[in-house]
Parts: sequence; structure tokens; C-alpha cells
Amino acid sequence: MTRFWAVVPAAGVGRRMRHSLPKQYLPLHGRCVIEHTLETLVNHPRISGLVVAIGVEDSYWQDTAFAGHPRVQTVPGGPERADSVRNGLEHLAASAGDTDWVLVHDAARPCLLPEDVDRLMDQLQADPVGGVLGQRVRDTMKRTDAGSRVTATVERSGLWHAFTPQMFRLGLLRRALDTAARDGVAVTDEASAVEHLGMQPQMVEGHAGNIKVTQPGDLTLAGFFLQQARHHERF
Ligand code: C5P
Repeated sequence: MTRFWAVVPAAGVGRRMRHSLPKQYLPLHGRCVIEHTLETLVNHPRISGLVVAIGVEDSYWQDTAFAGHPRVQTVPGGPERADSVRNGLEHLAASAGDTDWVLVHDAARPCLLPEDVDRLMDQLQADPVGGVLGQRVRDTMKRTDAGSRVTATVERSGLWHAFTPQMFRLGLLRRALDTAARDGVAVTDEASAVEHLGMQPQMVEGHAGNIKVTQPGDLTLAGFFLQQARHHERF
């Protein structure tokens, strides 16, 4: 039977938050950001195990609720997100098969709903490529020059925001990230590495609350979405 695993890159320093703590450790509803993120994945009945990439100079992980958890293993992070993910995948390869699915999910996205994980799994488990949770773009899109002057209005239909989890088979994803690194292609998500191989990942519509905590103010929003989820109100 094909299994599902999760790899969580958590080795970023989050400079855009302008905070001394990396964003995955900022307090949110009585816990820290990464504890909310991991709770959804650790308790998901279809996920066999998790690998979390932790920064080499990280001194906060040890104090989280998931340090030493039997379903959570850790690896050292790398200089870029893709390097952290590659380290996680390499570790996973010792216990997972090439055709097993891997869900890569940002530590900084604490509002992931279990039903979004299920939707991704259900829609993609027979897919030859894999894919990504996201949302269709709703606003009118503008392209600008260096001075923020509009040079074009971009056709909105067919444009998506790409979230995580991004779900691909372990063997394919390792090959994609290795190839991107070898070719010097900078990838900010797994899908772009798979696209670089000439494949077309599938987009799967998820809920709007699955935001990445990036800037001051995002924590307030994340707190709101967590509260809504707790009250079983879906948005
Ligand atoms: O910086 P960004 O928002 O793109 O980070 C997305 C996720 O990747 C975060 O959870 C962050 O901790 C992780 N990351 C990582 N290793 C890096 C950089 C970012 O694991 N070198």
C-alpha cells in the first residue's frame, strides 16, 4: 500500500517579521506557530510519519511539544528552503519507498485544516505527477516597472496562489530537486522543481486561511483562522 509522509521545512530565520525569534516560534494562541502546524500533521491518521528540518543554530526546537515525539524525526536545515527539504527527503528515503507520497508543508503555515490534507490526498493519489494546495486569484493583477508604474494588467483566469502542502512521490521529488540544484534553477516551492522536469502539477483548491506567517500582522490573522477552525466554522 502506498503511504503518505510529511516533510516540514522549519529552518528559516524569518527576517521579514522583524522579530528576534524565527517566525515558526512566535507565540500564537498559547502555543508557538510550529506547534499548531505539526499538530495537524502528527494527528492526521493517513500520515505515517514526519521529518522536520531544523536550523543548525536553532535553540528553540527542544522546548516545543513535538521535540522527541515518536512520530517526528528531525534533520538539519540547509541554506535555502529547497536544501532543507532535500535533507528531509534524503532522511525519509531510509524508511519510505520511491512511490510513497510526500507532503511538504511550511512550518510557518499554522492554520492547515485536516480536511484540506484529505482533499489533496483524495484528489491526487491516482495522479501521475502530484500537485499543490492553492487558491484561485480573485483580485485584478497588475505588472509594474521598478517604479511601481503599471506596465500591464495580467489576465487573472488561470492564475493561482500556491500554498503548501505540495504533494509528490518521493522518488520524483528527489529527482526534481536534485535536477534543479544541478541546473542552478532557484526554486521557491516543490512544484517549480517538478515543472523544471517538464511536468504539470495539479492545483487543488484549499481554504483561504492557510496563510504563511510572513509579516507582522499575519499572526493576528492566523489567530483568527485558528479560532474559527476551533469553533468548526469553515471559511
Ligand atoms: O522564508 P519562507 O517564508 O519562504 O519560508 C518558508 C518555510 O521554509 C518556513 O517554514 C521556513 O522555516 C522554511 N525554511 C527552511 N530552510 C531555509 C529557509 C526557509 O526550512 N533555509
